[in-house]
Amino acid sequence: MRFQRQRGGPFLAPCGRSARLAKVGFQELPSDPSLSEPLPDSPFSLLARWLEEARATGMANPDVMALATAGADGRPSLRMVLCRGLDAARGHVVFYTNRDSAKARELAQRPYASAALYWEPLSRQARISGSVEESPPAESDAYFASRPRLSQLAAWGSRQSRPIASRDALLERLDAVAARFGGVEGEAPVSRPPFWGGYRILASRVELWVGSRVRAHDRVEWIREASAPGGWRRSRLQP
Ligand SMILES: Cc1cc2nc3c(=O)[nH]c(=O)nc-3n(C[C@H](O)[C@H](O)[C@H](O)COP(=O)(O)O)c2cc1C
Repeated sequence: MRFQRQRGGPFLAPCGRSARLAKVGFQELPSDPSLSEPLPDSPFSLLARWLEEARATGMANPDVMALATAGADGRPSLRMVLCRGLDAARGHVVFYTNRDSAKARELAQRPYASAALYWEPLSRQARISGSVEESPPAESDAYFASRPRLSQLAAWGSRQSRPIASRDALLERLDAVAARFGGVEGEAPVSRPPFWGGYRILASRVELWVGSRVRAHDRVEWIREASAPGGWRRSRLQP
């Protein structure tokens, strides 16, 4: 079965092939990247590989994800965070934040989140949604200890998402925190603040998307379902 014949026009113009497309169908176009078969039962091995491949491109911030939460009023709010862990066996991703921030307060009201990552050089998108739980303290400690000293001090100094009178007031606050720990260039270790730590999004749905130059984008979703092979039910979706 063929796609309808194309008539060219602006939709396909970026390929510079509109004259040829007047005669051919989508199936005759040069092959585009897609989610190659056989697809894994669980999306997480592929998601982990995609993250590695994104890092290998040298692109800026391959680990950045948009994170959506909603509080008791049900209205979504969205911000960027860093994806700082992925557990393929359990099917979760990890981010770190202040546990008294606006997002953390929303998560306390509704422990569900959606995240999206986009890797422009690869024309790939990943979407992950599910329930959210706090990471175990030892995991948060280990990650905090690996952070640069300035980030550690800033975590102590910022009452994230709360108002502050001025930028100077913020810098004074950060200096006071730094002094407590022996200065910004000090050697004394900085412990993890009790109000800062990790969250895990335990995926109930994952979608992987590959963009196509001719707009025949490829999308596959995995829904967690205990009785399905590998614990996930998989479907290809229309773009
Ligand atoms: C590229 C980028 C990465 C960020 N990573 C984090 C992060 O890992 N954790 C975090 O708490 N905030 C991070 N932020 C800041 C958040 O986007 C946000 O401003 C902050 O967490 C407060 O959000 P909230 O008031 O909704 O809780 C990042 C911002 C950008 C632009």
